[in-house]
Amino acid sequence: MYTNLILLVSFVAQIWAAPNKQNDGMHPHLPVNPIGSLKVDPAEDTSAYWNENAQKTVQEIISRQLNENVAKNVILFLGDGMSIPTIAAARVYNGGEEIQLAFDKFPYMALSMTYSVDKQVPDSATTATAYLGGVKANYGTIGVGPEVPREDCLGMLNVSNHVLSIGYYSQLQNKRTGLVTTARVTHASPAGVYAHTAERDWEADSDVLDSFKDPTVCTDIATQLVYGETGKNLNVIFGGGRNRLLPEEIEDEEGHDGKRVDGVNLIEKWLEQADDRQYIWNRDQLLALDTSNVSSILGLFAHAHMDYNLDRDTTMDPSLAEMTKAAIEILSTGDNGYFLFVEGARIDMAHHDAEARVALDETIEFSKAVQAAVDLTDEADTLIIVTADHAHTLSYSGYASRGNDILEFGGNGIDGRVYTTINYANGPGYKMSDADGSRHDISEDDYGDDHYAFPSVAPLDSETHGGDDVAVYARGPWAHLFTGNLEQNVIPHLMSYASCVGTGYTACDAAN
Ligand SMILES: *[C@@H]1O[C@H](CO)[C@@H](O)[C@H](O)[C@H]1NC(C)=O
Ligand SMILES: *[C@@H]1O[C@H](CO)[C@@H](O)[C@H](O)[C@H]1NC(C)=O
Ligand SMILES: [Zn+2]
Repeated sequence: MYTNLILLVSFVAQIWAAPNKQNDGMHPHLPVNPIGSLKVDPAEDTSAYWNENAQKTVQEIISRQLNENVAKNVILFLGDGMSIPTIAAARVYNGGEEIQLAFDKFPYMALSMTYSVDKQVPDSATTATAYLGGVKANYGTIGVGPEVPREDCLGMLNVSNHVLSIGYYSQLQNKRTGLVTTARVTHASPAGVYAHTAERDWEADSDVLDSFKDPTVCTDIATQLVYGETGKNLNVIFGGGRNRLLPEEIEDEEGHDGKRVDGVNLIEKWLEQADDRQYIWNRDQLLALDTSNVSSILGLFAHAHMDYNLDRDTTMDPSLAEMTKAAIEILSTGDNGYFLFVEGARIDMAHHDAEARVALDETIEFSKAVQAAVDLTDEADTLIIVTADHAHTLSYSGYASRGNDILEFGGNGIDGRVYTTINYANGPGYKMSDADGSRHDISEDDYGDDHYAFPSVAPLDSETHGGDDVAVYARGPWAHLFTGNLEQNVIPHLMSYASCVGTGYTACDAAN
């Protein structure tokens, strides 16, 4: 305890001393004011401002009415890898520490513990089984219980090991269902809606062969999307990933080859299943839809994952918000409500590459999609949940002034060199020391580049997920049930309670 205190005191003293070093003239690349100039609304400089704002919040909270309606509609938004530090940093990227994202305004929230049955830090497959199927299972598996180890094809074929998603149970209640993602529609998170597989990488039959398994036995995820019990009944499927549905010998609309080796064109097979189905592949077609008259639609807007928003061809590729808006309009035309899953998939992928700017930008795109849903729905009958599957290692630190660019510097190290406000625990942004052993001078980097890889402690090709809890934001019927620190697999049980679907206890049972 005392040792800690002494360490702390000497650490603080070092930080205190550090600013002097920047004036020694040895580091010409240091910005004049490395912690930024203050950019803040002058109104914040009075106590009255803070008291009045707090009182407004008190009034808002005490006037809340519990919404105990049955949720006709449920929308689950999943920010893949959207850790809590990512959310806080995204606010600054979007204009200010104090500017809330769409879901920051939701009235209720909980935390979710994300570990899987076999790992401290999970992946997007096992977590999809938890937040969509209600069961924690093994890393890398989707829609199967913890009885099935990764890559265990026989285990996955055994139907008693299948975990059924809230999408499946919503279909049983004649609700419309859909999924929207910026990844391939066969990627781990969306697959949680409809697939049962021991291996998330088995997206096409060629992927199954790559694992030395027989794709005629271990059915690939794309085939499950088109023929599976839940997949074949989805009304809306929007995202990327044409290549997992097309054979090698077929080029898609943008000249990319398929990846299937079974010769099956799954886009055609999907269309053949009913007369009222349509397929689209670009933004113009999406925006031109008469959404009041669509019963089943497959929209594949990229051969693989959709491009990052910062790289997106905005004339050809829809934004996540545009896809979400169309999906909600289409699903709303059903009589019995709907379940919609929307994934901001590429927050995670940008983090893996330590591309913090891209990750924050994708987080803002995700927030815009949530706002589109808020604008299109009624809080009285639509439960909207916003959460993440797992965290990442991004940290947001330092003592920069208010309003400082989140992608610049948080201060100086005791070596007199700057450090960035955003850092990762590990990943491809690791910076080698200079020849004389001194820490790399980040101020010499092109850190303003969209794809700059932010610094990390340990060098890894791909930055890892984080094991910290993630947030769960809730708005609408029974949103107040989302409180406390929840096991991640409780989320679909609560959504099912609110919307009276599934095999567990529901609000409709409670009312009888
Ligand atoms: C199928 O799975 C169930 C539950 O895990 C198990 O009890 C049963 O023995 C399995 N059946 C076969 C044929 O492996
Ligand atoms: C609805 O769409 C179908 C094709 O899916 C078309 O045949 C029909 O004319 C459309 N109805 C209206 C009212 O636009
Ligand atoms: Zn990931």
